[in-house]
Amino acid sequence: MKDKNIPCEKTKISISEMVLPNHTNNLNTLFGGKLMYWMDMAAAICAHQNTKKVAITASCDNITFKSPIYKGDIVTINAFITRVFKSSMEIYIEVLAQNAKIKKSIISNNAFFTFVTLDDKGKPVKSIEVKPKSEEEKKLYDGALRRRQLRLILAGKMKPEEADELKSIFN
Ligand SMILES: CC(C)(COP(=O)(O)OP(=O)(O)OC[C@H]1O[C@@H](n2cnc3c(N)ncnc32)[C@H](O)[C@@H]1OP(=O)(O)O)[C@@H](O)C(=O)NCCC(=O)NCCS
Repeated sequence: MKDKNIPCEKTKISISEMVLPNHTNNLNTLFGGKLMYWMDMAAAICAHQNTKKVAITASCDNITFKSPIYKGDIVTINAFITRVFKSSMEIYIEVLAQNAKIKKSIISNNAFFTFVTLDDKGKPVKSIEVKPKSEEEKKLYDGALRRRQLRLILAGKMKPEEADELKSIFN
């Protein structure tokens, strides 16, 4: 029988942007809100291209800005699906900034976005399955369950005592 699971690596998409003056803050570095917009956009493209359905942002966690990105830098955002639950999926985002002068890339930040696929009536609906292959993908796949439970607790959608993956933290 044909395996319907899509390898995580096949869900990967990338987008690139050049940091222009209208993308910057008063310090001439990339405005954080603009980067968050690009990250959300990359996650949205990843969800749409892979599920072929309407998908919306349900949450995003752990955005930290490790180092500034400068005017003229090229920002590349990689996104792939780490795990699909029912209607929701976790998308891992990695942001690389290539310095225009020294041509060196740094990982500026990363984050996890959760997208939910919707049917024609706007109701959450199951979409695809993904399967991890590499060690990194397997680690992300396993951790996705813990991260899901944590974010649902923080959103008030799960009781801590129901979070079996997090028992050691909450009990
Ligand atoms: C996301 C949304 C569809 C969830 O609706 P809901 O009534 O909570 O639906 P459900 O309880 O059936 O949950 C649907 C899925 O969303 C997930 N979910 C809901 N809230 C979540 C949150 N805060 N973080 C992560 N996942 C969440 C649930 O775990 C569930 O996943 P599963 O099907 O894989 O188990 C709804 O809150 C919504 O439409 N939000 C607005 C989204 C939006 O407009 N985004 C654009 C940004 S402005």
